[in-house]
Amino acid sequence: MVGAGISTPSGIPDFRSPGRGLYSSLQQYDIPYPEAIFELSFFFRNPKPFFTLAKELYPGNFRPNVTHYFLRLLHDKGLLLRLYTQNIDGLERASGIPASKLVEAHGTFASATCTICLRSCPGEDFWADVLADRVPSCRVCTGIVKPDIVFFGEPLPERFLLHVADFPMADLLVILGTSLEVEPFASLSEGVCSSVPRVLINQDVVGTFAWHPRGRDVVQLGDVVHSVEKLVKLLGWTEEMRDLVRRETEKVPRVNR
Ligand code: OAD
Ligand code: ZN
Repeated sequence: MVGAGISTPSGIPDFRSPGRGLYSSLQQYDIPYPEAIFELSFFFRNPKPFFTLAKELYPGNFRPNVTHYFLRLLHDKGLLLRLYTQNIDGLERASGIPASKLVEAHGTFASATCTICLRSCPGEDFWADVLADRVPSCRVCTGIVKPDIVFFGEPLPERFLLHVADFPMADLLVILGTSLEVEPFASLSEGVCSSVPRVLINQDVVGTFAWHPRGRDVVQLGDVVHSVEKLVKLLGWTEEMRDLVRRETEKVPRVNR
């Protein structure tokens, strides 16, 4: 399970870190209160702030970091049952983890849906508008086209239901870079069997690790990149990691706006 804290080393702010999280730096977006940026009622009144944020997160702007590549390496080794992410930056896909292994619980910019006629379209259809500071509209009915990001109160993507089978099957749960404050995602952390070790790698102790710790919990505090590098070293994968990161960074061209 991962959250915004795995992407701060890639240069994307998280949501709740005091002072530098997105929710404390949204004044520039012209919204009444931070969470409004993910609220439908506000979006229909004024979709601009959300699309300003979307433009910031344009897929070419950021690259995966060691944390994403660590998850990719777990996949390459056949050890990743599933990656549940709350992130909407697409960096898990960009790191080369196949869509079948991902549950993008809070949605994705890879596709969008018309808010009036519900026609679905691929990301390529709306990015040009977003990058030109235009609100994208439906080719059929002219309704606003909303990227498939889950707003507060909206149902999670159907794939989220995979958790019903995945969590009881897991024999290790690793949780990285999340405050575990948003439901229903946060409660997944309680979905593994009580005998299954849970590893929290985060800046601070959060959620169930604070108020309902289990006997086999492991908590590694501090910067996620530092912690992951330490873990990779303990596993004897440092060389492999270095090769993977080198290969992938040579492959992914950085797109400048
Ligand atoms: P938060 O901003 O709530 O939490 C990020 C966590 O990562 C915090 O506990 C930070 O201390 C930690 N963190 C940040 N940088 C770190 C670093 N370099 N090393 C280690 N830890 C670090 O983000 P999420 O938990 O992902 O919803 O937030 C959940 C949801 O709230 C988001 O998906 C978003 C928001 O409303 C939607 O986008 C729909
Ligand atoms: Zn339409």
